[in-house]
Amino acid sequence: MKPTMIWFCSFLCTISFSASIASDTLTVSTPLLDANTKTLISDGGSFELGFFSPAGSNNRYIGIWYHSISDNQTVIWVANRKSPVTDRSGRLSLTTDGALTITDGNSTVVWSSESPTSLNNPVAKLLNTGNFIVREASAADSDGAWQSFEFPTDTSIPGMKLGWNLTSGRNYNLTAWTSESDPSPSNYAIGIDYHGQIVIMDGQRLHWRGGPWNGLRFSGSEGMQRDKRIGIGFDYVTGPHHVFCSEYLIDSSIIDRIVMNTSGTLQHFIWIQDKQQWTYVGFVPRDECDSVARCGPNGVCHPDGSTLCKCLQGFTRRNNSDELNGCVRITALDCANGTDGFARQSSVKLPDTSTASVDWSAVSLEECGLRCLRNCSCTGYAQANVSGSGSGCVLWSTDLTDIKFYEGGTGQDLFVRVAAADLIISEFDTCSLFYHNFSSNDLAVSCSGTGRKHGHWSPAVVVIDIVVPALAIILLVMVFVVYCLCRRKKEHGKYFDDDTEETDLDLPLFDLDTILEATQNFSPSNKLGQGGYGPVYKGKFKDDGQEIAVKRLSETSSQGANEFKNEVMVIAKLQHRNLVRLLGCCIQGRERMLIYEFMPNGSLDALLFDPAKSGSLDWRTRYNIIVGIARGLLYLHHDSRLRIIHRDLKPSNVLLDMDMNPKISDFGLARIFGGDDTEVVVNTKRVVGTYGYMSPEYAMHGIFSIKSDVFSFGKLILEIVSGRKNRDVYDSSIPENLLDHIWRLWKEGKALNLVDESIGNSFPTTEVLSCIKIGLLCVQEQPEDRPTMNTLLKWLDSDISHLPEPTQPGFVNLRGPFDSEPSSKNTISNTLFEGR
Ligand SMILES: *[C@@H]1O[C@H](CO)[C@@H](O)[C@H](O)[C@H]1NC(C)=O
Ligand SMILES: *[C@@H]1O[C@H](CO)[C@@H](O)[C@H](O)[C@H]1NC(C)=O
Ligand SMILES: *[C@@H]1O[C@H](CO)[C@@H](O)[C@H](O)[C@H]1NC(C)=O
Ligand SMILES: *[C@@H]1O[C@H](CO)[C@@H](O)[C@H](O)[C@H]1NC(C)=O
Ligand SMILES: *[C@@H]1O[C@H](CO)[C@@H](O)[C@H](O)[C@H]1NC(C)=O
Ligand SMILES: *[C@@H]1O[C@H](CO)[C@@H](O)[C@H](O)[C@H]1NC(C)=O
Repeated sequence: MKPTMIWFCSFLCTISFSASIASDTLTVSTPLLDANTKTLISDGGSFELGFFSPAGSNNRYIGIWYHSISDNQTVIWVANRKSPVTDRSGRLSLTTDGALTITDGNSTVVWSSESPTSLNNPVAKLLNTGNFIVREASAADSDGAWQSFEFPTDTSIPGMKLGWNLTSGRNYNLTAWTSESDPSPSNYAIGIDYHGQIVIMDGQRLHWRGGPWNGLRFSGSEGMQRDKRIGIGFDYVTGPHHVFCSEYLIDSSIIDRIVMNTSGTLQHFIWIQDKQQWTYVGFVPRDECDSVARCGPNGVCHPDGSTLCKCLQGFTRRNNSDELNGCVRITALDCANGTDGFARQSSVKLPDTSTASVDWSAVSLEECGLRCLRNCSCTGYAQANVSGSGSGCVLWSTDLTDIKFYEGGTGQDLFVRVAAADLIISEFDTCSLFYHNFSSNDLAVSCSGTGRKHGHWSPAVVVIDIVVPALAIILLVMVFVVYCLCRRKKEHGKYFDDDTEETDLDLPLFDLDTILEATQNFSPSNKLGQGGYGPVYKGKFKDDGQEIAVKRLSETSSQGANEFKNEVMVIAKLQHRNLVRLLGCCIQGRERMLIYEFMPNGSLDALLFDPAKSGSLDWRTRYNIIVGIARGLLYLHHDSRLRIIHRDLKPSNVLLDMDMNPKISDFGLARIFGGDDTEVVVNTKRVVGTYGYMSPEYAMHGIFSIKSDVFSFGKLILEIVSGRKNRDVYDSSIPENLLDHIWRLWKEGKALNLVDESIGNSFPTTEVLSCIKIGLLCVQEQPEDRPTMNTLLKWLDSDISHLPEPTQPGFVNLRGPFDSEPSSKNTISNTLFEGR
């Protein structure tokens, strides 16, 4: 008897032991019967599997729900979603070759899992991840031959994935329940399309497009990205035959789920233990702009704007027709002549990429832009991967559709190909709109708010949205502003009351009669030139004989009003011998004028590029001009109380006084920044200035900093030394642009061939070579490689052997758009005092 007792005892022990294991495992011999209300509970207690009825239904389904939390039985997976058992006679069993089956009371199989390979000794196990697997009894949990995670229903939890595998032909998507009481699949499904975009389909119709993965998230899916605060992240893997996106947990205690709900909305919930409830983390679609192509081709949808649909820069509404019809180009592209450029559209969901080409390799944004520029069918480009410092390249070749704007800069930058004429538009620049308060501190704060991170879009956009249509108001404000400026001087002797520092701007107000007298009623013979915001006249005060130049704002120019105001703001605060001096202003009736000291020798370009006059510029004079401009720039960039980026430095904006001292003029496009913010880098949607002198990063991406001025200065130096404009070389027998040409001569050690013949043969070789080298150092492609004006001035004093070696200039090998001299359309800069 004794051995039997022992055997019996050990049998009992085995039974009870395996019973406790069996709570998460289904074996061939232990099916799950609905009748005895048994369920499987994962080891760890997170999930439970068994028969359930949805709310409002008596049908029975096999499902998985949360066990550890006291919610209202949230089901995350359903096996027989299309084929319920109508009573409690259902049974879930595991067949001997490893298939799971659900049978009803008549032993009819209502549902069966696919069994890819037949197993010898199968078990089915509910893992604590929520995954229900079938595997060989001896295998590890990670070797599931079948897994419920491979067959998602309407819910994704960490460890599951969306996407597709072309090899297996499987598409991983979430399909909504038909209704709360019916888990059978409805038409709403979220998945990743064959172009890598996340989409919600309503049957065959596109219901929502989240756009392509951009390294951090899908371009248009707010909330679905790594979030440390919530403790979750997303992975995206792609190969020639598969694309998968899956969620992972940074904080393993997080319980969250993503559900495609019955009304076609993807909801992301997180379990809040303290409150014992599920809370939204996010959902899509969330607003009108999420309807696909709400604003038509080339339209941008602004969910929070006063206008829902706007056009991309360079586009206009099609004949005032319906928004849905989108926008058309204002000016046709001119790829053949190579004059097209790109307008930056910041903070958007990237347009539909189903016809775009996407390159995930380590392509820089610049290279991407060049690729687009070289291909005449390319309509725009963007970075494929915005994580880290960014890489990759998306190129579009059709109209850009389904673009949504995100407030607060959470979107991506899109670069839209537009004709040169539309690249520079008469609209207000962000910063200029902050002049409502004259404290320079306010100004600095406002401008730095538009820094790199958040792109151009800041609260200023709202201001633009409201203000631009009401141009009249701006003009009024402008007049009032300048009026006040000038009036206050008379009354108080101060214009700007700074919190920290009182600034006496010393800006006298001139009488219109005095100006009329001085300019002989703006006689045409007194006209010096015509600038973007109005003509410039020479004048002479009757009483003291002082010569002046009067810049008169055209009444019709709205852009001018802005630049005029800008110029007052900038120049009124500056005093330097290498900056042109503002003597005062005149506001009377509708007239608005700025009065400058007169520069008898006119502008540098008039001398430099005129063979008859360039002889008056000997090497000593040219060198002094270079040094003078450098000092002026140094003052703008570093030494003045504010930091000023000129943005339109070129020979026609350098004026020469009686003694040929250079003075930088024309601050209509300049931007002011706070005094201590040396490293300002600004993105602007609106690229202004003159192509031939723009740095690559500014011309192509609207990114400007003091280093963009340094680039322009480099070109200026090279032009002063060579006496040649870009165009001269570009159009002549030398089939290169000026930079190419100089770079080649430099590499060949023939840099001195470059020197303007009108300088003659006697010049200090090392000084000339130094200047050429410094010029080349300034026009290097990467802004960070270019010197600051501080360094540059030290270099001018030092031996050439102390200078670093320049790298290849920006734009070399790129023929056309940026190196050709602009047509009048290409520039809105004013040619102040320019001699005729
Ligand atoms: C079993 O079959 C009978 C006859 O076909 C049918 O009436 C009954 O509804 C079935 N029962 C279940 C549970 O499906
Ligand atoms: C795609 O499916 C094939 C066949 O089932 C499989 O061998 C392969 O591992 C899958 N690819 C990925 C990336 O999961
Ligand atoms: C969702 O996945 C299923 C199963 O792979 C597939 O039949 C269906 O076409 C997919 N639906 C969408 C919209 O991708
Ligand atoms: C689906 O989600 C949206 C957004 O959270 C919600 O407004 C809607 O009520 C949900 N629909 C259902 C049927 O729960
Ligand atoms: C190129 O420019 C010329 C002169 O401006 C113009 O006549 C011509 O139409 C342009 N070519 C194209 C393809 O637009
Ligand atoms: C230009 O772009 C189109 C559309 O993406 C593409 O089909 C074509 O091959 C490209 N051409 C060149 C020369 O790369």
